[in-house]
Amino acid sequence: MAPANNVDLTAIMTALGGRQALQDLLGVGASAISNYVARGTVPTHVRSKLYGALTARGYQVRLDDLAILCAPDAPATAPAKPMVLLIIGGGIAAYKALETARQMQRLGLDVTGVMTKSAAQFITPLSVAALTNQKCYDDLFSLTDEAEMGHIRLARSADLVLVMPATANLMARAAAGIADDLATTILLATTAPVLMAPAMNPAMWTHPATSANLTILQQRGVHMIGPTEGDTACGEIGSGRMSEPADIAAAAYQLAVKRPRLLAGKTAIVTAGPTVEPIDSVRFIANHSSGKQGYAVAAALAAHGAAVTLISGPVNLPPPAQVNRISVQTAEQMLAATQAALPADIAVCAAAVADWRVAGSRHAKLKKPDRDTAEPIQLSLCENPDILASIAQSDQRPELVIGFAAETEDLQENAVAKRQRKQCDWIIANQVGGAADPVFGSDMNHIMLIGETTVENWPRMLKTELADRLAERIAEELSK
Ligand code: C5P
Repeated sequence: MAPANNVDLTAIMTALGGRQALQDLLGVGASAISNYVARGTVPTHVRSKLYGALTARGYQVRLDDLAILCAPDAPATAPAKPMVLLIIGGGIAAYKALETARQMQRLGLDVTGVMTKSAAQFITPLSVAALTNQKCYDDLFSLTDEAEMGHIRLARSADLVLVMPATANLMARAAAGIADDLATTILLATTAPVLMAPAMNPAMWTHPATSANLTILQQRGVHMIGPTEGDTACGEIGSGRMSEPADIAAAAYQLAVKRPRLLAGKTAIVTAGPTVEPIDSVRFIANHSSGKQGYAVAAALAAHGAAVTLISGPVNLPPPAQVNRISVQTAEQMLAATQAALPADIAVCAAAVADWRVAGSRHAKLKKPDRDTAEPIQLSLCENPDILASIAQSDQRPELVIGFAAETEDLQENAVAKRQRKQCDWIIANQVGGAADPVFGSDMNHIMLIGETTVENWPRMLKTELADRLAERIAEELSK
């Protein structure tokens, strides 16, 4: 007997009860199994053992390549795991794809690797294949790949396509719809959600060409995680460092696992971002709110099937898919838009509304006074309407009204008092202003969910994950 080629060892492993069972049967270690998986070939003596073990369990097996032709009667099959197609781009951060693949597997996802030509300069297809227990695809025109699984079928088999590191080049080609290799062809052919983790030199990240490509991709519904600030591999400090594997794996999990549409038929209003309050025609009062948390909540509610109106102050974020965004500037405009969007079943007020506006702000630009003679300029402020309180106390009060409380001290005490004062159902409280754990602009958040009689401390997590959990809690509450 000759060695067997084109062996699907993953299928055989499943049939024989998993990796450990296979190791025990063959009397080899994990690395030998990984090598067989990656190469798709097994030596003659291994072939005999596998053939014997499979047929003993009632499988019908083809002798030359050990293909399983027929399973024993009514096998107990585990439900299929969500599949992530991991496209690895050619950047120094490519090595982090291996750790991310491992973390995704721990979360219960199946991972199949796809590499660009330049990714192979940083890591090998063999290491990806060994780690994922799957063939790693890298060639659009490979005859065997096309015979086994065409690129369209590969793209369609995914529950999520994850691109990491998303290099400037890969983002540009995806934005332009170029399909000149397997990775970009998959990005064009897939109907699954796409998540990109950009990583590049800070100057490349802030270049207008990359910004324009980012906007195009986001407007098409591509999800982004990072990049974050910090040291980059090229030694420059700035934004461009890829998010950490654990965060990428968590975001991938959120997107790959299909959830029941728990909020189908419900309507929701979400406020997000800062408000800006004019001083004159060119100056304004504002704050550091990025809008990320509110946008994530709007996206999560929509993903669960709610009809969402997102009333947003000026932010640098594209509207989430399936969300009706209304853009406003001032608190008064935000209040008017919110009231116009009522009635609704759910209201989540995540906006950082300016508490005050300038009384009698001017249309003309204020002139700088003469430095020697003039009195200092005084701005007189008046209070803005409280949108959360006004919704919570309106005749058309939504069934569930949720506010946020960003506090710098006495978090729980202040948040509990705020919930009572504003008469909302829940307050989501977070500490802000800490340099070690910033909330404004960050992808992460750490909150307490405060209800009438309950206080829950949620662990630090991605804003997207928090939004998803919140959407589930909202659905649970409304179903009571
Ligand atoms: O009073 P404070 O600004 O801390 O309250 C925060 C909560 O109230 C947030 O949910 C925010 O969206 C909401 N709020 C509002 N209108 C205001 C001030 C705050 O809706 N004018």
